[in-house]
Amino acid sequence: MSDPVQALYEARAYPAMSHPLSDPAVSGVGAMLGGLTSRAPSAARILEIGCGSGLNLIPLAIRWPESEFLGIDLSAASIRTATELAAAAGVRNIRFLAADLRDFDPGPEPFDRIIAHGFLSWVPDEVKLALFRFCRQRLAHDGFATVSYNVEAGWAARQPVIAKTRSILAAGAADPMAALAILRSVTPEASSEIAIIDDMMAKGPDILAFDDFGPVNHPWSLDRFVQSASEAGLLWLGESDPSTNFPTQVDPTTLARIQSSAASPLAFHSDLDVVAGRTFRSSVLCLKEAPIDPRISLERMFDLCVSIQSNYSNDCNNQIFEAIDSFSPLCVSLADIQSVLKEIPEKKLASEVFRGIREGWVRARLEPVLFDPRVPKRPDLGAFRLECARRGFPLVDIWHRPCGFPAEHYRVLEAMDGSRDLGELARLAKTHCPDLRWDPWMAHLAGRGMFAG
Ligand SMILES: C[S@@+](CC[C@H](N)C(=O)[O-])C[C@H]1O[C@@H](n2cnc3c(N)ncnc32)[C@H](O)[C@@H]1O
Repeated sequence: MSDPVQALYEARAYPAMSHPLSDPAVSGVGAMLGGLTSRAPSAARILEIGCGSGLNLIPLAIRWPESEFLGIDLSAASIRTATELAAAAGVRNIRFLAADLRDFDPGPEPFDRIIAHGFLSWVPDEVKLALFRFCRQRLAHDGFATVSYNVEAGWAARQPVIAKTRSILAAGAADPMAALAILRSVTPEASSEIAIIDDMMAKGPDILAFDDFGPVNHPWSLDRFVQSASEAGLLWLGESDPSTNFPTQVDPTTLARIQSSAASPLAFHSDLDVVAGRTFRSSVLCLKEAPIDPRISLERMFDLCVSIQSNYSNDCNNQIFEAIDSFSPLCVSLADIQSVLKEIPEKKLASEVFRGIREGWVRARLEPVLFDPRVPKRPDLGAFRLECARRGFPLVDIWHRPCGFPAEHYRVLEAMDGSRDLGELARLAKTHCPDLRWDPWMAHLAGRGMFAG
């Protein structure tokens, strides 16, 4: 096999994961605040490019049974896993195809959403261009693509460490973990590279082979991303999670200084990437001639659903954010928030929610997330999570976040098919994982919506 990218993904299974930033209920907010009015994801055609073993796409297909899903990947092994997983979970509105994006022809019908997560930075330039071209040709006129990539600003400090580790590997070290251990032993403790080496080692061998030491690893600047997309006829609308448009670790004074000296909004965001040492972006792209209206109406803001983020501190004493927090862990509509805050004018509510999103205190979605966070009497993970548990894959929670477990916990999770009561499951846990703190663990699973939907 001559393509080193294909050879790697056929030979080793890429760790199965879901990616909340690629969830159309989240990225739809980024697109909407960028001014795009697009079709609801609950009645849409959704394609994922480089879908791996399907852990990202299948939960979305379960959530939106009226939508049509297609996942493609170069790796036939990953596509086999994805197809088996969907079949075992009884999901019928999804298909997986082993295909190379460079010559993939999906037929004439356009896609309302295209997801390419963890793809752009890990493929050769020719495939990067094919991705932009594909989005240009295959997106619906009001559709959008969510494309993630590694950002040069934050990766710059990692590159010398990668280069040194590769030299140690070339000199005969067994694998990247061993080479990193050697590099660490000869690097002074005071060096800033120690933290980078530790961070790489913490990823472990399964991730490192694909990540820092993948056959291709091209971090890009935002400028380059926007420019390449623009050359293909695509427009950058902002980040899929709008709270990441402005990194929260940059203080307001520095933010204002960068803003006043930047030559353009794009230069401002690029400068911010450097100051914040940003490593990753998940950006939203649409067609250049898509129907964009940058004025966000009150009505559109009231289409959003919100929940409070864990970094919100209620020391702010803000009754709107407190009202949102009172619904935790649920995500509810602005109308629901307003119902407990009657005296607040709609405009004030909308502008505070906008501020909360921008500051990263409020998480917004296109749809509510409503579930019972209490531990059920007979826990049932549902067919998809049960199949993931059997395979030792992470379980995807109601927020589309992956949650991995130590191997012995899976013996208990596999038994949560609704046929056993809490007493039986607790006894099973005692046998397989005697150190597990049963009640907090179950409360954690229920609080993440693992037993819902
Ligand atoms: C880093 S993995 C990411 C997998 C998944 N999207 C994720 O983020 O968890 C990149 C994926 O892209 C696939 N890929 C690479 N080149 C491709 C191509 N030319 N056409 C289709 N898929 C490709 C690989 O097989 C691999 O599964």
